[in-house]
Amino acid sequence: MLQTQTDPASTADPGFLWDFWYPALRSSEIRSNNLATAMLLEVPLVLGRTSEGQAFAMRDSCPHRGIPLSYGHFDGKVLECSYHGWRFDACSAQCLEIPSLVSQDNLKVERIFAGHYPCEERDGYLWVYMSSGGRRAAGNAPGARLPEKIPAAPALAVFSEKYKLTHLTCDLPSHVDQGIIGLMDPAHGPFVHQSWFWRKRASIHEKQKQFEPIPNGFRMSPHSPSSNSAPYQLLKKITGEPVTTTIDFVLPNLRTEIDRSGKLWFSSRAAITPVRRDLCRIDFVAAWNIPFPAALFRIFGEKFLKQDQQTMIRQAEGLKYKPQLTLIDDADRQAKWYFALKANLLESRRTGTSMVHPMTGPVTLRWRS
Ligand code: FES
Ligand SMILES: [Fe+2]
Repeated sequence: MLQTQTDPASTADPGFLWDFWYPALRSSEIRSNNLATAMLLEVPLVLGRTSEGQAFAMRDSCPHRGIPLSYGHFDGKVLECSYHGWRFDACSAQCLEIPSLVSQDNLKVERIFAGHYPCEERDGYLWVYMSSGGRRAAGNAPGARLPEKIPAAPALAVFSEKYKLTHLTCDLPSHVDQGIIGLMDPAHGPFVHQSWFWRKRASIHEKQKQFEPIPNGFRMSPHSPSSNSAPYQLLKKITGEPVTTTIDFVLPNLRTEIDRSGKLWFSSRAAITPVRRDLCRIDFVAAWNIPFPAALFRIFGEKFLKQDQQTMIRQAEGLKYKPQLTLIDDADRQAKWYFALKANLLESRRTGTSMVHPMTGPVTLRWRS
């Protein structure tokens, strides 16, 4: 069997974090035997669900001549390539049949695999584990050299049996690093998110927040949230009890926020997922048992995301010319931690030593917003 090389022009490292779960698309986008496509970390994927309900993710490229497998036919178990009809088991990506072979051929069909990635459905998303092994295997190598143990895909924290759940999504025309530091940026709120329901620019005041290190990330220690945010004021009014907020960031890309007040709670997660080096996507999911209609929440949420999106579209105009950028203390300290966490993780993987956390203990940050 002849193997050909991949294009060397596409090898400049785009700075993605491999060996993590990323949400590829919403579960609802995969219906019956239809195939869906997505891109994660510049890897084209074809996704589907078998008739038994098992979700799967394969590299959207036939290991024979590279045509996207998503043009093929899927019967609920086997995916048949549209070009020469090679047939692959959807869950293992193993080749089952090559129609052109004659009985004298001794090619070991079962040794041929399409690229494939572990896949799990959670919180209404199809999550794909983007293994670096799968990236190198690009179409051969059974199982694409997966690590022994893959952690479970992230799950949104919920605190009661009944709750409302909603999803929002938004594309950002920037590298994932810019998306992430934009998400964690405390100083843009009064300028980008000015609105009657959130806060006014005039309400800007000095804040002080305590942070602590957690594995692969950092936590804004449980605190009572900003007094100038209307939703938190509302929550306090309903329960008559104090509101506590805990905000975590963990690599590669997850910001979670949990607000609790008495029996009421609100839990959300924003994932900033690298699609290509110049494109990322926010997938925002929220759950709550507060008497607040999901439709109204979506109106506010969408407006909020649009404001961020518009800002990042404009920022991309400036970033085209590769300007020098500035990170200041303390307002950009979280961005500095993100870059340090990422660098230290890559270093620990390279050297096989345990990861050094950029924070040695609790830190208090101060800024005005
Ligand atoms: S390209 Fe898929 S079978 Fe030939
Ligand atoms: Fe924002």
